[in-house]
Amino acid sequence: MYPFWDPVIAPLIAVSGAQRVVEVGALRGETTIRMLDDLGPQSELHVIDPVPAFDPGEHEQKFPGRYIFHRDLSLNVLGDLGAFDVALLDGDHNWYTVYNEMRLLAAGARAADRPMPLTILHDIGWPYGRRDLYYEPDNIPADMRQEFDYKGMRPGQSELLRRGGMNHTLANALTEGGPRNGVRTGMDDFIAEHDRPLRTVIIPIYFGLGIVVEEATLDEHPELRAALDRLESPEGTAELLELSENIRLGGVVFQQNVERMRFARIERAVNRHLDVLRSITGASDAEVTAADEAVAFVAARPELVGDIVYAGSTDGLRYLAASLEAHELDNRNVWAIGDDLAAAAADIGERVFAVDFGATTLPEAPIATLAVASDELMGKVETALRERLEADAVVLDKQRRSVR
Ligand SMILES: C[S@@+](CC[C@H](N)C(=O)[O-])C[C@H]1O[C@@H](n2cnc3c(N)ncnc32)[C@H](O)[C@@H]1O
Repeated sequence: MYPFWDPVIAPLIAVSGAQRVVEVGALRGETTIRMLDDLGPQSELHVIDPVPAFDPGEHEQKFPGRYIFHRDLSLNVLGDLGAFDVALLDGDHNWYTVYNEMRLLAAGARAADRPMPLTILHDIGWPYGRRDLYYEPDNIPADMRQEFDYKGMRPGQSELLRRGGMNHTLANALTEGGPRNGVRTGMDDFIAEHDRPLRTVIIPIYFGLGIVVEEATLDEHPELRAALDRLESPEGTAELLELSENIRLGGVVFQQNVERMRFARIERAVNRHLDVLRSITGASDAEVTAADEAVAFVAARPELVGDIVYAGSTDGLRYLAASLEAHELDNRNVWAIGDDLAAAAADIGERVFAVDFGATTLPEAPIATLAVASDELMGKVETALRERLEADAVVLDKQRRSVR
């Protein structure tokens, strides 16, 4: 919800003259802290969350008397807190919770002879607009709960996916749509039953934001009506489009950073694995260097079809094969060229096969690169494979020059 704070929520709260505000579902307190900074000294903020991911004590100390935290479920406390001017609903994303939160908020206002609060709900779009999520399924009465499973979702498919998908670790309703399913359905059902005229504004970006307010409040605060009109105007829509694109770009950068860190972690694990291999195979330094260069060469060119030619000891061959496997490149064939490599090649696996220096028949695949550890062996390889090396010379030239 917090990306909506500056462009949408804060301006609406400012023109509504709000004094008493309630936030349901605070998580890391990102919206909470913005609210505390922006709301005036006369305001009172109630925050409800059974498992906040921050220390509410810090906020209580910083804003004494203005900040009241309730470590509980919204439906356990909302009925006792009286009337609010503004409510932000972003807690448990299911029909039962949202429908009853709105009913309790309306009842609290009615008891004080006030209009229901300006209510701003997050997650009225996909995935939880028309599908329940249960943070803790046992908190919802069984007869008010959809059947659910801990499986993921994708847009356009009602059934949960067998594997993967969005939020696959959470308790999601088995199917999307139908009665009493989802945050938007809870909001719609409340609106259909409410006995006073309401205005509803839907912002269909970033999981969807719904704004519900009584016409009586808009009569009292014409600037709030004007702010909602602006949100729905072509200029307001263009601004929201820009916000949506900025949120998307932020998500792309975040995702790419996560991937970069994950790849770096994998790379470190592979290198540790190869260090161990180096020490136990007994491959010489020159063989290790030649193998590492060959592996790096093919890893950087996934589009280049071709095999690797190896010449050296059986230990060096084992190291090369293990390194290809560690880098998930073991779909490359290795030609182990030499007079004494046949047994090792057969032992290592079906993608490693032996070729002798006097070979007359050679595999058909082109050669992508060489892993040859000495000039003497390189000379023998070049003599044995002359025609093939000439045919593949463009790719091999750089590699051959790097052999010491
Ligand atoms: C989506 S996060 C809220 C994000 C937050 N509003 C923001 O803008 O950053 C949902 C939060 O709701 C809390 N929650 C779950 N069930 C709740 C309930 N019944 N009442 C209040 N909070 C609940 C969870 O602990 C979680 O911290």
